[in-house]
Amino acid sequence: MVRTNDTEQTFIVRPGGSLSGELRVPGDKSISHRAIMLGALAEGTTVIDGFLDGEDALATLNAFRAMGVEIDGPVQGRVTVHGVGMRGLKPPQDPLYLGNAGTAMRLMAGLMAAQPFTVTLTGDQSLSGRPMSRVVEPLRAMGASIDTAPDGRPPLVIHGAARLRGINYSLPMASAQVQSCLLLAGLYAEGETITTVPGVVRDHTSRMLQGFGYPVTVSGEHNSTVAVQGGGKLTATHIAVPGDVSSAAFFMVAASIAPGSQIRLNHVGMNPTRCGVVEILKMMGADISVENESLAGGEPVADLVVRSARLRGVIIPPHLVPVAIDEFPALFIAAACAEGQTVLTGASELRIKESDRIQAMADGLQALSVDAQPLADGMIINGSTLSGSADTVPVFAGGQINSHGDHRIAMAFAVAALRAKSDIRILDCANVATSFPDFVGLASRAGMRIEGKCQ
Ligand code: S3P
Repeated sequence: MVRTNDTEQTFIVRPGGSLSGELRVPGDKSISHRAIMLGALAEGTTVIDGFLDGEDALATLNAFRAMGVEIDGPVQGRVTVHGVGMRGLKPPQDPLYLGNAGTAMRLMAGLMAAQPFTVTLTGDQSLSGRPMSRVVEPLRAMGASIDTAPDGRPPLVIHGAARLRGINYSLPMASAQVQSCLLLAGLYAEGETITTVPGVVRDHTSRMLQGFGYPVTVSGEHNSTVAVQGGGKLTATHIAVPGDVSSAAFFMVAASIAPGSQIRLNHVGMNPTRCGVVEILKMMGADISVENESLAGGEPVADLVVRSARLRGVIIPPHLVPVAIDEFPALFIAAACAEGQTVLTGASELRIKESDRIQAMADGLQALSVDAQPLADGMIINGSTLSGSADTVPVFAGGQINSHGDHRIAMAFAVAALRAKSDIRILDCANVATSFPDFVGLASRAGMRIEGKCQ
């Protein structure tokens, strides 16, 4: 069964405003998923603080509950996972419904391939259209037995009792989900599982495995080869989840483009494999200072102070594409407000996210009168020629946007209203709850004129 988010939501965002104050964005989605998975398979009790109380991470939490893992919370961001050990999961009664969460499906495919029981993984309409062959094919090469819908789409039926063997796999795409899937399967495989990624991708899985006491070998240029030996065990630990830099990105762009803004974003994850957005915004002339840098549970964190600035267009360097991959919807809004041209290429992965983010953003930008040309693997945006001369000039016409049920498209266009001529109405926003449950509340308190209406 394919479910969609039950309640329709529309954002109505009035033009203008500036941002001020201090805020803490919700916990990192990638880290929250992984903390539940490794906590469930560990020996002992894992306490997770700062857990993302959003639909995607809760889908993972509920899936492990359905496999017999006792999990308390979340209560004020704290989740307690009573680990069952590597071999302690029980067969779930029903298919595991993972909602909108691609990370849950791809990472769990690796873990489920090694269990002694059969599991079906399903998702909502968006997830049901996303490609899974990228994980299914290498898992089959490890010995897994998996059926998919036509064209390698979900649902995935993962048959139990497969004996996995390690492989040496070079990923054809820069994907942390694929690499993590194979490493998680590799925990159960005979011998060594070696994964090599073209470029730099987020490294939360290897950091967290090490935090749970599992040896991981990291090598190669840019640490792009990661390997594990099967047959080890995980030992419970404490995980402090930093604020999600992908959620903070909307406020970085908002404060940069809205005149007279100054905002402090506290305790944001600053893992170098995630911080492309900060580098790109700085290249564009953004005024971002990084303060109070520290380590929280093996992950770098910092407070970011962002002030409004005149932005200029840039050619996005290819090495920053995978480390900013989720932030392009927000960055396209910054590019529209920048003087000159911004060019992104090498980002065809954007077409297979929660929506086709190149098309959805190009359509939305054009609807708001921005000169945006979609490319097969990126976008060219000619920023407002007016914005260089006065950063108070509206850049976007008002109008109606279809977010296509994609949380990041919805939040990006909400930010655009700060420099719009009139209201922006954004349809199909319920999925903002997958990664940023109180976006409307937090954005309003910071100075955005946003209202969410349920139908
Ligand atoms: C994620 C990896 C990225 C990212 C996604 C989360 C993860 O996907 O876009 O939001 O947690 O591993 P890809 O691996 O497909 O690049």
